[in-house]
Amino acid sequence: MSLHDIARALVAAGKGIMAADRPSPAFYELLAAEGIAADDASYRNWTELLFTAPGLDDSVSGIIMTDEQTRLRDARGDSLLEGVIKRGMIPGISPFTGMVTLAGSAGETVGSGLDGLRERLADYAARGIAFSKWRAALQVGAGLPSDYAIEANAYVMAQVAALSQEAGIVPIVEPELMLYGEHSIETCFRITEHVLRRTFAALALHRVDLEGALVKASMVVAGDKCPVQADVATVAEMTVRVFRRAIPAAIPGIVFLSGGQSDYHATAHLNAMNANYELPWKLSFSYARALQRLPMRIWRNQPENVAAAQAALAHRARMNGLASVGLWTEAQDNAAAG
Ligand code: 13P
Repeated sequence: MSLHDIARALVAAGKGIMAADRPSPAFYELLAAEGIAADDASYRNWTELLFTAPGLDDSVSGIIMTDEQTRLRDARGDSLLEGVIKRGMIPGISPFTGMVTLAGSAGETVGSGLDGLRERLADYAARGIAFSKWRAALQVGAGLPSDYAIEANAYVMAQVAALSQEAGIVPIVEPELMLYGEHSIETCFRITEHVLRRTFAALALHRVDLEGALVKASMVVAGDKCPVQADVATVAEMTVRVFRRAIPAAIPGIVFLSGGQSDYHATAHLNAMNANYELPWKLSFSYARALQRLPMRIWRNQPENVAAAQAALAHRARMNGLASVGLWTEAQDNAAAG
């Protein structure tokens, strides 16, 4: 498939992406925070639960994986990656090796992992991986994000995007504005516009083919500690407005991260945008927490809970699939969830 075909397939009508790319150390931290006992096989078992959930392929086009996950095997010895491909879902890779502090900054970060990336991407492509994701985690606060962090992250994301396309891999460029803080929704709007413009300037400099790339974006929302929170219609209106200003129509799709939003808000916001606006790009999801929070609480690392956790995962994916075409309703969500 060409880059353009892969990019379009990832945002096919009614479908979105599952971000499963939490590295194992962070996964074990999350289990501990949830009070769930872990064992050596927990990461593998959780990954298998996610990748093999019945019905997931109805509303999930692709799965973002860690390098470790691409090498995991099920109890029979079969590759989980191969299983995803057989089910018709598109495997993707998060090829970064961690966030590092930008030298001379007040703790702002950039993703690392550019060394040897050309060769690693070629190897991933040979193993059937068709897209990549690279994230910038920009903090909002007094004087933040700095122009330094915005430019450094835009440049690195664009380099990764260009290297991905060279390998035949569709890049997902993720300039995330983190929702933690006291900032207003207007501040989020203003910074999002600037960050997107600078990100697209870097993509142009690096000769990235926009029709073979996707954007993973945060929604325009107030910080989680801001006393004034906007309603669903306002978040949808401001997010669509900032994208219209700053994201070229050549981009086939924008997929959202959930960023700490509740499951309800992640779905309701996406639905409101698709139900109420005529848009030049597909708007869909690339959620981790808003798909996996509830399934993990049901699972609790107990084999007897796997089927119920998988059903909850498929349900959240289906609801977000409906939201990606503006056909979700809260009543239907509650009814189907039982
Ligand atoms: P969340 O949906 O949990 O924000 O994660 C998406 C993601 O992949 C962040 O890079």
